[in-house]
Amino acid sequence: MKVTVVGAGAVGATCADNIARKELAEELVLLDIREGFAEGKAQDIMQSATLLGFDTRVSGSTNDYTKTAGSDVVVITSGLPRKPGMTREELIGTNAGIVKTVTDNILKYSPEALLIIISNPMDTMTYLTLKESGLPRERIIGMGGTLDSSRFKYQLSQHLGCSPADLNALVIGGHGDTTMIPLIRFATWNSVPVTKLLSEEKQKQIVADTMVGGATLTKLIGTSAWYAPGAAGAALVETIVRDEKKLFTCCVSLEGEYGQRDICLGVPVTIGKKGWEKIIPFELNADEKALFAKSADAVRNMNDVLSTLKA
Ligand code: 2OP
Repeated sequence: MKVTVVGAGAVGATCADNIARKELAEELVLLDIREGFAEGKAQDIMQSATLLGFDTRVSGSTNDYTKTAGSDVVVITSGLPRKPGMTREELIGTNAGIVKTVTDNILKYSPEALLIIISNPMDTMTYLTLKESGLPRERIIGMGGTLDSSRFKYQLSQHLGCSPADLNALVIGGHGDTTMIPLIRFATWNSVPVTKLLSEEKQKQIVADTMVGGATLTKLIGTSAWYAPGAAGAALVETIVRDEKKLFTCCVSLEGEYGQRDICLGVPVTIGKKGWEKIIPFELNADEKALFAKSADAVRNMNDVLSTLKA
């Protein structure tokens, strides 16, 4: 198994580190445009191999895509991160050009690869990759909901005083501060609905805090978060390479599912070695349906910006 992570910034390097620690691939390539940067990060990760006991071979490359040839899975993290006060959407102009170039280069050397998109604005970057590559839709997976669902479980665990690992909770819709939809009505602590355990006021607070989870960290740290985004990317690589068919919320191309088409948006999917395999239908109520439609409108508006950007 060969995996490439494009972008050796904090998110990409953390993702690579998690992939190596879990030995999800025999070979892992970290690629970055900055001279020597990916090589340095790769060496640093490799120098932890004897301490952590992993056997993945990690190498770095300065923009030489021949090194990525034959990758089974490619995680794309390239692009600018957000600064405090910035929305993910404000990154579109710069990141669209970067993601387009990366996708073209990756597919030149790894035409069979599955692509995991982390670059922001993630929903639009996933859509751009779909349109740019012409790949079958199941090979393109946007990471957003996986991260947002993990943040949702963290918020719930803080209020319930329980382990996040005992929670089931999904965030669907877009990966924007105002477009994500934490589905609290379906969230459970083991099998107990959390709505039976938390006041309405607390539920509202948890949903609101989840939605601004990324922005809160950007304000605290001064740039985008990386531990959870990197771990979310690696979790998707894991379910693919081990063909686990685990259920995650991911941003995928919809062709009528959840009442939407010609858009990539976060919905629950199972993921295995062929990419995402099944979209799992949830019976949304009228309010949730309205939120999903609103989220789709906002993401569609953002996608429309792509046609106004210079090629
Ligand atoms: C986040 O929400 C990087 O979009 C990512 O932290």
